Amino acid sequence: MQKKFLLAPGPTPVPEKALLAMAEPMFHHRTPQFEAIFKEAADGLKWLFQTEKDVLILAASGTGGMEASVANFFSPGDKVVVVNGGKFGERWTKICQTYGLKVTEIMVEWGKAVEPKAVADALKADPEIRGVFVQASETSTTACHPVKELAEIVKRHYNTILIVDGITAVGVYDIPMDKWGIDILVTGSQKALMLPPGLAFVGVSDKAWKFNETAKSPRFYFDLKRERKNPPRLFH
Ligand SMILES: Cc1ncc(COP(=O)(O)O)c(C=O)c1O
Repeated sequence: MQKKFLLAPGPTPVPEKALLAMAEPMFHHRTPQFEAIFKEAADGLKWLFQTEKDVLILAASGTGGMEASVANFFSPGDKVVVVNGGKFGERWTKICQTYGLKVTEIMVEWGKAVEPKAVADALKADPEIRGVFVQASETSTTACHPVKELAEIVKRHYNTILIVDGITAVGVYDIPMDKWGIDILVTGSQKALMLPPGLAFVGVSDKAWKFNETAKSPRFYFDLKRERKNPPRLFH
């Protein structure tokens, strides 16, 4: 057998230990055996995200985690800011617009990181901005946006949350979710976690859960409140 070695930002190679575990027979998910594994994974994710809060596990690629981050915390007509410095910033805009949000884009030259002042100015100019969307690592250009500084800025606005796509950043860079004050942090299984694609992970702050209480965007499969109450919905 020829062993292929992936050198992409994702999917990354899956270690043999994980490949062998996947070759084992299926067992039912409503069993103590699965619950123990699920709990271990959920606890491990809290460690990885450096958060005391729940990190939810969704059966979706990373984009599903991005969509869940829009659908669960906003309502049609909400104003948001998207940092668009590449293909994945553009994806935030597309998802937000799909859900009827009013997007102001901060366009960043490809390959460059956003100036925190641009975000601070946008929030100052319009106190009705409810969310700031950004990539920790914009894979399409390799630029890293200054998430720590952005969190400092957004924290000062009680009416605004910071949503970070950490799909190629979590597990690569140090991104302490609670310490920095990130409200929503998303990653996917096939990048730094070295797993097959198909799982998205979403960390949610208390401030973001407050937004969830009034958010009217439609959601069913990606209803994070229900998932939080009764995990694992990933098999429902
Ligand atoms: C920064 C970033 N965001 C989003 C995605 C989309 O993730 P997925 O392909 O798992 O849906 C990727 C994939 O490469 C990415 O690098």
